[in-house]
Amino acid sequence: MCGIVGYIGSYQAIDFLIEGLHRLEYRGYDSSGVVANEGGTYSITKTAGRVNDLVERLKTQPVRGSIGLGHTRWATHGPATDANAHPHVGGDDVVALVHNGVIENFRELKLQLAEKGYYCKTATDTEVVAHLVASELDARTASGDQPKAAIEADKYAVLVEAIQAALAQLRGTYGLAMVFRDWPDVIVAARLGSPLVIGVGEGEHFIASDGSPLVGHTNRIVYLADHELAVVTSHAIRVIHRDNGDVGHHVKQLDIDTTQVELGDFPHYMLKEIFEQPETVQAAMRGRLNRDEATAVFGGLNLTPQQLRSIDRIVLTACGTSWHSALVGEYMIESFARIPVEVEYASELRYRNPPMTPQTVLFAITQSGETIDTLAALREMKRKGHPTLAICNVVGSTIAREADGGIYLHAGPEIGVASTKAFTSQCVVMALLALYFGRLRDLSFEAGMRIIDELALLPRHVAESLESNRDARRIAAKYASCNNFLYLGRQFNFPTALEGALKLKEISYIHAEGYPAAEMKHGPIALVDENTPSVFIVPQGGVYSKVISNMEEIKARGGPVIAIVDKEDSQAVELADEVIHIPVVPEFLQPIVAAIPLQLLAYHAAILRGCDVDKPRNLAKSVTVE
Ligand code: G6P
Repeated sequence: MCGIVGYIGSYQAIDFLIEGLHRLEYRGYDSSGVVANEGGTYSITKTAGRVNDLVERLKTQPVRGSIGLGHTRWATHGPATDANAHPHVGGDDVVALVHNGVIENFRELKLQLAEKGYYCKTATDTEVVAHLVASELDARTASGDQPKAAIEADKYAVLVEAIQAALAQLRGTYGLAMVFRDWPDVIVAARLGSPLVIGVGEGEHFIASDGSPLVGHTNRIVYLADHELAVVTSHAIRVIHRDNGDVGHHVKQLDIDTTQVELGDFPHYMLKEIFEQPETVQAAMRGRLNRDEATAVFGGLNLTPQQLRSIDRIVLTACGTSWHSALVGEYMIESFARIPVEVEYASELRYRNPPMTPQTVLFAITQSGETIDTLAALREMKRKGHPTLAICNVVGSTIAREADGGIYLHAGPEIGVASTKAFTSQCVVMALLALYFGRLRDLSFEAGMRIIDELALLPRHVAESLESNRDARRIAAKYASCNNFLYLGRQFNFPTALEGALKLKEISYIHAEGYPAAEMKHGPIALVDENTPSVFIVPQGGVYSKVISNMEEIKARGGPVIAIVDKEDSQAVELADEVIHIPVVPEFLQPIVAAIPLQLLAYHAAILRGCDVDKPRNLAKSVTVE
């Protein structure tokens, strides 16, 4: 959601800016823009639409300069128009800036600024920040002193002071990058709640919302923290904290390579990521299965075995697809470890005040590690003194860094907006956690070993599930013109049904609802007709015969049935209009192998309906606004 890039060095900025904006497209956006600063003169080009539209516009409105910023905007205040696209300029070209986040008090600030003669021309909250920074700079330079010549010892002192004064007046969240008329050799970046990183090159620096634009340019990265402001020139980075002054910075290693951010032979990132799953489920387990003790091992939980043993309640919090993996985790942890688990939408948990035992631990599950609601829920639980742990894919992300400890998925960058490989990796990590907590309690060595053996076979089973691609495509072709789908499953496969429905609606815009199969009788059955297919997730297990009865109920009302069945099935295949086979696995692993044909079904339906699967309308990969 909104992407920021910046370049300062000796080359023309525009090449990096455009490449970087393309790499950030996955975050979700509806307009884009760039600014280059040449000796204090800006050239700005922006447009509603895709980065490719911006590239077209640059042919007639080129930007020149070796310092520049780029932005993809996901509209919050004001529609996606050329004018509302970033960068925005403050005052008399004093500053040009790009912003990710939301300024909650922008209305009050707008009025105050208008009284001082700074008028906003757009509906955005961001333009207010530009004028605010300009007003603070003007107030400090109005005496006629040229800021350039101002202070030999610290030529950026006035600049930093003015920006800090402006930031102190903002309520909300921001990742900001700015260039200046009177300081034409610098970019200032600042963050509160929205991610920003700095790439360290040779005589050049890069700014970005995450590490992906840096790939191929540098693998040295600096993560900005909340309340930090960075003064970046081509040769130096200075990081200043709101309260602690100059704090220095740590250069870390960026572990992403080019193949991970490029499509290769696949037409879409989503399909590429679906097909990566045999490797990504393996990566989630690598080094974490301990056969000597029939348990799982984690390097970063940062809690003692005694602390872990005394946990009496687990809260799993997340949003979107990650919330579905939390539901899978609930079933797993309750069956293996017998610890009460609650799954909470992060957006609800942060404003609730549920009674918690002192020994309650929170797991925040998040692919990106940047989802603002999940971050806020984690902070709230941390504030109350509960240990907070993150299950996260993006190394160095905000949630990964703020949690007391955690587990990385190691799935590699997930670029398709609709989450696929992160979901299955999250489910694997939940299974490992359930095993771990189980073995700390009453799960026997033999039962632990059985789970390990099953997990070890999982990559092969996932590969087998991918063989459903052809059937998924055929079935999608048959039903892609339907406007409503039901997804039904029970127990472990109730979350699978929710996830299947979410995948379909996210990328094909077909309305789909997931339900526990038996609940279908209490309302959704009213929707059933010959144009409303029901997708049953019905591999054999404890509730198999019950789900078969639910299928009968749909058939009796003329609804088409698509069944996800295991390879040894004999009853569901008789009833269903269409069947997709998955391998036989124990019930706790069924959501993982069953998710794959559901991802493929959604993918093919979306393609057949002409949708942009990697960049679905209105959605963002990383939701950094409430
Ligand atoms: C957005 C994405 C979803 C994702 C959700 C949570 O809505 O489009 O794919 O599941 O955010 O994201 P997270 O990064 O916290 O898992």
